[in-house]
Amino acid sequence: MIKNHLVYNPVLEWKFKLAKAQGSLLWDDKGKRVIDFSSGWNTANLGWNLPEINQAIIDQAKKNTYAPSWVSTDIQEQYAKNLMAEFPKELDAVCRVTSGTEANEQAIKIARAVTGRKKVIGFNDTYHGSTFGSLSIGYRPEYISHLSPLVAEFIKLDFPASQKELDLFLEKLELVLAKKDVAAIITEAGIVTGWGSMKIAPKGYLGAVRDLTDKHGTMLILDEVGTGFSRLGKLFGHQIEKVIPDIVTLAKAMTNGVAAMGACLVNGEKIKGLIGQAKVLSSLAWMPLACSAAIKVLEIHKRNRLWETAEANGQWLQQELKTKIHSSLIKEIRGIGMEIGLEFNDTQLTKTVVEKSFIKGLYLRQSDDTIIQIMPPLNTPKEILKEGLDILTSAVV
Ligand SMILES: Cc1ncc(COP(=O)(O)O)c(C=O)c1O
Repeated sequence: MIKNHLVYNPVLEWKFKLAKAQGSLLWDDKGKRVIDFSSGWNTANLGWNLPEINQAIIDQAKKNTYAPSWVSTDIQEQYAKNLMAEFPKELDAVCRVTSGTEANEQAIKIARAVTGRKKVIGFNDTYHGSTFGSLSIGYRPEYISHLSPLVAEFIKLDFPASQKELDLFLEKLELVLAKKDVAAIITEAGIVTGWGSMKIAPKGYLGAVRDLTDKHGTMLILDEVGTGFSRLGKLFGHQIEKVIPDIVTLAKAMTNGVAAMGACLVNGEKIKGLIGQAKVLSSLAWMPLACSAAIKVLEIHKRNRLWETAEANGQWLQQELKTKIHSSLIKEIRGIGMEIGLEFNDTQLTKTVVEKSFIKGLYLRQSDDTIIQIMPPLNTPKEILKEGLDILTSAVV
């Protein structure tokens, strides 16, 4: 769709004109107030327009706003140090990028350069970005068939959402990896938060993938673009199973949405001789303004232990949804932390709930035909969460 010269993805559709945003509330250009249960898809995890973050940018703008990739600045080095202190010591270097797509593309290039192998494994019904490489390890084939050929060597498996599926998946994975020609597998931390299925893997998934990838010399790329920054009840998703990935990608909530920024965390020793081959380049990455926001964002998450709020409020929301919506209408309510999938039995009902909720003042994101993906800002006050929940449940007829 094109509206006022701007091109919109038809899958996401044009929703409304955003005129003002504050905390967990949005207003359209006609003054309509809506509660946000999307965080701009896991981006404004701290709520919209936090004065502390905006002030950090203003302060930085008085000093310097640009740094090309061949120089360093104190603010970039400071953020790299702060960020990596939250990750296992094996992840000690960062490739600077501008988005989640770019971070994942960079991760794939590094995996190929390090292993000398070509294949990469991803999952159906996931989202890792919009380039040829990142589309080739996710999405739904019928949505992108007209773009083919994508990257022929990339393989997509089904994400395991039950113990039985996990057992079968691990058997299959072992067979594929045993050929010793897979450079990397890319996955989120036991959940699918990017567009699509909102599936959750049984406990032990990530650890088992780590064991098999280690055994067969395949790199594990953990996409934390959606799971990072307290969304899953931990500051980062890798902490849930205490798994150490070879590469971690980040973006979105890194600056809380105020500036384009992404990161691809790696082991410096492993990539040292291959940086030229992996073409680590990005003119607008880690601009000082973005870094000033990112430093403040990380500070707030840690200061307020936001992951604990996410865990508590996420549990509460799931329980309330289970109590308040009649079970006959629901296929499943599932989630980790403040990332909740509400799966209905019926496509039309799902659409109606989203539309009616918006009319009544709640903004929801539908991530698939029958799934609403609930991901409010993590610090949403309880009374606003309750108000949103009442709107949602009253829209279910
Ligand atoms: C899990 C995941 N990975 C990667 C991306 C791509 O990030 P970006 O839109 O910053 O390119 C997204 C975006 O929705 C995502 O949800």
